[in-house]
Amino acid sequence: MKTVLVLNGPNLNLLGTREPAVYGSQTLADVEALCVKACATHGLKLDFRQSNHEGVLVDAIQEAGRAQAAGTLIGVVLNAGAYTHTSVALHDAIKGAGVTLIELHISNVHAREAFRHHSYLSPAAKAVMAGFGVKGYPLAIAGLAEMAA
Ligand code: DQA
Repeated sequence: MKTVLVLNGPNLNLLGTREPAVYGSQTLADVEALCVKACATHGLKLDFRQSNHEGVLVDAIQEAGRAQAAGTLIGVVLNAGAYTHTSVALHDAIKGAGVTLIELHISNVHAREAFRHHSYLSPAAKAVMAGFGVKGYPLAIAGLAEMAA
């Protein structure tokens, strides 16, 4: 059974209480449950992680690249939070790892402040999803499963 890595960046551990008008009231544990279900539907195993630290996210992306090369992982769903708009290191990690990666945002970043309109990740990502709320996570897993089939 192959794995999908769902990787969450800074402040996503606060889901549920963080700006509920923007991000909804579901917690990160609720998101993980949605992802477990989506992976089960597609015969995939879930690796679900969150970190507030850029380097930890870089390490996880590099690890995912090695796992994909070894044939044990089909790709990554990454919600990099604010690092989306600042991190050349994450851009380079995605490219360097050669991993299939979907950039995901719970909110529609393009309908928000101008500083959220630019993403360092999009040019390195296979696909980009924004604005579906937390339901975007299972949709992104379905998309990865489709791409891998
Ligand atoms: C986010 C959007 C980012 O701009 C923000 O910094 C986040 C969450 C989203 O899921 O909508 O932390 O990635």
